[in-house]
Amino acid sequence: MTFSVAVAGASGYAGGEVLRLLAAHPEFEVRTVTAHSNAGQRLIDVQPHLRSFGDIVLQDTTAENLAGHDVVFLALPHGASAPLAVHLSQDTLVVDCGADHRLDDPQDWDAFYSGDHTPSWAYGIPELPLANDGTQRDNLRGVKRIAAPGCNASAVSLAIAPGIRADLIESTDIISVLSVGPSGAGKSLKVDLLASELMGSASAYAVGGIHRHTPEIAQNLRKAGAHEVSVSMTPVLVPMARGILATSSARIKEGVTLEQLHAAWSAAYENEPFVQVLPLGQFPRTADTLGANTCLIGLALDVPVGRVVVVSALDNLVKGTAGAAIQSANIALGIPEATGLPVNGVAP
Ligand SMILES: NC(=O)c1ccc[n+]([C@@H]2O[C@H](COP(=O)([O-])OP(=O)(O)OC[C@H]3O[C@@H](n4cnc5c(N)ncnc54)[C@H](OP(=O)(O)O)[C@@H]3O)[C@@H](O)[C@H]2O)c1
Repeated sequence: MTFSVAVAGASGYAGGEVLRLLAAHPEFEVRTVTAHSNAGQRLIDVQPHLRSFGDIVLQDTTAENLAGHDVVFLALPHGASAPLAVHLSQDTLVVDCGADHRLDDPQDWDAFYSGDHTPSWAYGIPELPLANDGTQRDNLRGVKRIAAPGCNASAVSLAIAPGIRADLIESTDIISVLSVGPSGAGKSLKVDLLASELMGSASAYAVGGIHRHTPEIAQNLRKAGAHEVSVSMTPVLVPMARGILATSSARIKEGVTLEQLHAAWSAAYENEPFVQVLPLGQFPRTADTLGANTCLIGLALDVPVGRVVVVSALDNLVKGTAGAAIQSANIALGIPEATGLPVNGVAP
């Protein structure tokens, strides 16, 4: 069976990546692409790497243009998806790459975003370990509304959740510093993202507990079994177009060994094609995940300070957005989960 697809925000980074992956997906047929300021242009004039889409033209992002498809991917600035989605049929599978439907708690939304909170949708990290021994994929089967995850939230949540579920680490003293590429901030022009500002330099941003993915990480770790979560995350902008390398650490519980930690993380992702725990002593590089729907994880025990240190790498535009969106859509539609999704990166 072929599912008809519309992609809104097709001129942006996330929408472009959804389209790159959909082009290789045997069960999806892209019929409509929409944009905002670029509406009216040919897709390949705005996204020249998407050659297979030929002369398809970007339409305005309206509910009318998105209607009549089996699947709609929304890759819009936060706040733009929710008002649009209410006008889309309940029979259509809608996957939102933005933040509008990720947070369960209105107070979290109010503290980190502007505008009104809208109800959360099924969350799109299928591999997220849940407290009951299942995974988040159990909550994605058959749904019609999916909230794809935040990219930084994916890197940190996948890195820490196994230790929470296995009750091997404390959930109240988690620290994560992430090296992130500027594509995570989207395609719009910003001075700090100019090559002259970025090349040859690294700079921290959203320092001091204000990054918007903080409540999303805490929500994910509560789903993994934590009662109380405190997580301090600091992203550092580095000169690589895409990719996230998150170094996260948490206090271990009394007497926990490195072997126990590695066994718990390995068990959590044992049968996962897209989340892989490396052998002890190995740590991932972003390059190994670029273009792939893969999150690689390496861990160590810092014995003198009693902390597990987990290094996770993923491509913010694939496992951090578009790949997670398509993987989750596959599950919702009953298509084999890995369909159309690359597991190999493009290093060097
Ligand atoms: N970049 C990432 O790594 C990443 C990761 C996870 C999640 N996300 C989420 O994905 C969404 C898109 O991010 P992005 O990085 O692709 O941003 P982007 O490159 O700036 O693209 C934004 C897209 O939205 C369109 N747009 C802008 N303003 C609009 C409006 N008022 N109404 C409707 N459409 C509008 C743009 O159209 P025009 O270009 O034609 O104006 C463009 O197609 C965001 O919610 C972001 O948080 C991104």
